[in-house]
Amino acid sequence: MQQRWNRKKTHFPLLVLFFLIVVVLSTFLHSEHRILQIHENPDHVHNHQEAPSVTFVKPNLPSHLTRPSGILDRFSRCNSTVEYSGRKISWGGRPQHSGHRRVSSDGCDVFSGKWVFDNTSYPLYSESDCPYMSDQLACHKHGRSDLGWNVTEMWEKLRNKRLMFVGDSLNRGQWISMVCLLQSVIPADKRTMSPNAPLTIFRAEEYNATVEFLWAPLLVESNSDDPVNHRLNERIIRPDSILKHASQFEHADILIFNTYLWWRQGPVKLLWTDEENGACEELDGLGAMELAMEAWADWVSSKVDRLKKRVFFVTMSPTHLWSREWKPESEGNCYGEKNPIDFAGYWGSGSDLPTMHTVEKILSKLSSKVSVLNITQLSEYRKDGHPSIFRKFWEPLRPEQLSNPPSYSDCIHWCLPGVPDVWNELLFHFL
Ligand SMILES: *[C@@H]1O[C@H](CO)[C@@H](O)[C@H](O)[C@H]1NC(C)=O
Ligand SMILES: *[C@@H]1O[C@H](CO)[C@@H](O)[C@H](O)[C@H]1NC(C)=O
Ligand SMILES: *[C@@H]1O[C@H](CO)[C@@H](O)[C@H](O)[C@H]1NC(C)=O
Ligand SMILES: *[C@@H]1O[C@H](CO)[C@@H](O)[C@H](O)[C@H]1NC(C)=O
Ligand SMILES: *[C@@H]1O[C@H](CO)[C@@H](O)[C@H](O)[C@H]1NC(C)=O
Repeated sequence: MQQRWNRKKTHFPLLVLFFLIVVVLSTFLHSEHRILQIHENPDHVHNHQEAPSVTFVKPNLPSHLTRPSGILDRFSRCNSTVEYSGRKISWGGRPQHSGHRRVSSDGCDVFSGKWVFDNTSYPLYSESDCPYMSDQLACHKHGRSDLGWNVTEMWEKLRNKRLMFVGDSLNRGQWISMVCLLQSVIPADKRTMSPNAPLTIFRAEEYNATVEFLWAPLLVESNSDDPVNHRLNERIIRPDSILKHASQFEHADILIFNTYLWWRQGPVKLLWTDEENGACEELDGLGAMELAMEAWADWVSSKVDRLKKRVFFVTMSPTHLWSREWKPESEGNCYGEKNPIDFAGYWGSGSDLPTMHTVEKILSKLSSKVSVLNITQLSEYRKDGHPSIFRKFWEPLRPEQLSNPPSYSDCIHWCLPGVPDVWNELLFHFL
């Protein structure tokens, strides 16, 4: 493994979003790169016409302490499963007419651009210097110190604030990236990291600031809310309540949410709050995600004061599971990839367009309370950015796996230092 790491290191290109540099350094505007962002969302055109029989459920009613079906955890089971009743979530969002685009104040779309090789200003931290690095993501052995990134300025933006990431392992990767980007200027005795738990907290004393991660892969309460023990064949959510998680994140000043891949593994069981007999309904992943996002949107629209809180939503993180999508006739995945895709607008089948439309529809009704970190397209290009075999695997690898590296390559998460560092640079651009 050591040897492989070294080999990987020398071949691993350090790439940056050139566009960001341009934006940060000179706020220079390249309008031709905005073209991608101007698609109209078809959902805005033909608005939903609900059949009159649809029942709407008011989400996030604080009845969770007394609700009949109790708190969900990994031992929860459905007593029975019936077809989806068609119940929907009602919430106070207002439809907006124009497809709203969150571009930065200077009108530049920082999410479009192309990747260029830059090994003088990147990486922004080195893996070995960051004590909080996860073995799942550490792909390099060393790098060099930062140049284009003013860590002190970032901390000033976070002074007296709680910055919290809420979501799944992709969001956790972005959180680790953030901690690694920021921790270098904080003396070891002035910083703490709490033990891994649903809520994990990095604290920097002198700034009275925290950078936190809350494990909530399905946003709403679910039987997968334990960050370690969550491997389950039956996925159960409470589609109408985010209160369990909200009680942890409601005091954060800056919130960064994501959710996607956990909805992509088959049907989901719904256990409504008022269900008395433990009976679940079953719904496809996207339908269930829409309910969960609406329960989340209900919380955002009723609880977020735009002057006091910043809320971001990170769009789908792309996977590179099928190399035939960028190299026709090939049979592999991201394993062995060393360069980004240079085909402008490349979009893999792992990034589900109906999901993107659902997200866009819901966010557009939240008006400007939520900013989108639309990282999907820019990350699509980075087939070379995944750990592939260069990570720690929690289970021992069998001989037949070892002889066929693509079979166990991780083409879902991202190496650090790497792509999520750029997501965080973009995030700071909006703070
Ligand atoms: C950057 O990459 C070029 C080309 O691969 C190489 O010649 C150079 O030594 C690298 N510089 C640093 C600082 O790593
Ligand atoms: C970094 O930011 C701090 C705080 O805004 C500022 O005082 C300092 O001069 C900056 N350093 C550089 C190298 O730009
Ligand atoms: C530290 O930050 C919190 C908000 O996160 C604030 O309520 C508190 O007053 C701050 N403490 C100091 C000493 O500034
Ligand atoms: C499931 O059914 C059993 C027996 O009918 C009952 O005792 C139990 O409370 C039910 N579970 C839930 C979560 O309602
Ligand atoms: C994100 O950008 C893509 C184009 O890259 C666009 O199709 C999509 O609608 C955007 N998503 C959101 C939620 O704004």
